[in-house]
Amino acid sequence: MDAEIDIVDLTPDSAPAAARLCERALDLPEDAAEAAVLVDALWTRAAADRPVVALGAYRGSELVGVLIGSLSAVDQKLGHVDLMAVAPEHRRRGVGRALLAAGEQRLAGLGAGEVLLAGNPPYYAWPGIDVRYTPAVCAALALGYRQDRTAWNMTADLSYDGSPALRSTEAAERRLAGQGVTVRRAEPADLPALAALARDTFGGTWDAELAGSVGRAGAGCHLAERDGEVIAFAAYGSSRPSWFGPMGTTPAAEGSGIGGVLLRRCLSDQREAGHDSAQIGWVGPVPFYSRSAGARIERVFFLYRRTLGNQ
Ligand SMILES: CC(C)(COP(=O)(O)OP(=O)(O)OC[C@H]1O[C@@H](n2cnc3c(N)ncnc32)[C@H](O)[C@@H]1OP(=O)(O)O)[C@@H](O)C(=O)NCCC(=O)NCCS
Repeated sequence: MDAEIDIVDLTPDSAPAAARLCERALDLPEDAAEAAVLVDALWTRAAADRPVVALGAYRGSELVGVLIGSLSAVDQKLGHVDLMAVAPEHRRRGVGRALLAAGEQRLAGLGAGEVLLAGNPPYYAWPGIDVRYTPAVCAALALGYRQDRTAWNMTADLSYDGSPALRSTEAAERRLAGQGVTVRRAEPADLPALAALARDTFGGTWDAELAGSVGRAGAGCHLAERDGEVIAFAAYGSSRPSWFGPMGTTPAAEGSGIGGVLLRRCLSDQREAGHDSAQIGWVGPVPFYSRSAGARIERVFFLYRRTLGNQ
């Protein structure tokens, strides 16, 4: 490692500097554009819910690298690296290696026995390492990680009026109304029912993602109800404004076209907010999104893990 690099725990007042660094260091424009939102979600917002590690690499007084990590909400023995970025002009000089070693040490100190280079919902920037961040893939392999899963996003095109992602939902909503199903935007008062549905029917952390979507700026959620009971939901923007998900329909209501309606209502909101495409994150049922929104598989992620204590 370069002798002049210091790795330090960052305090929350460094968040703007960390965001500025990520803007420069995340090589994919779609990620650079959301750098500040990501730092806010993974660090500031996540820290209210789970242990978070935020490390900076300094060369003198200059911040040249950042790592944000956290403990899993489902298994406290699992640590996650949520984001790591090194300024382009400081790469291949051991900064990433030093940040990761220090991150692993901090996560071990919090009780982690294993570290994942993979998204830690409900606050996550990516499911894993986008394969186009090829230096990060190389670094993961060099630093003792093994790939255990692959994940992908789908892209919905919101850039033109005739896009299948923006197809009108009116006729389908009329048909659903005939079956006693109402579709509307979710309000904060709906959260308890939404969270209960997500928890009881789908498990995982979707209830927390819904809490991050309903009523928050840049985010939103639409739901379907029958006889006053929520039977389906679709949400967007909980960690990233341009990302869609999660969505769920109760098994009894599946196959009635509710999902496609809720999906396109969300995508239409995202277009309204100025996005010319939306990422359907960490998919899921490819044929459904292809059919309902003309979405195509685009971003592919490798997920890595390493048991601590063995190199
Ligand atoms: C991934 C990243 C953080 C690595 O930072 P870094 O400071 O350059 O990493 P290091 O210098 O410590 O490299 C450690 C090892 O990784 C491997 N590696 C890193 N970059 C590599 C590259 N471009 N090609 C091949 N191997 C590479 C090497 O084995 C390297 O060791 P070596 O230089 O002794 O051969 C940096 O490239 C980056 O910020 N990329 C953009 C953001 C990103 O992809 N983040 C990950 C997604 S969250």
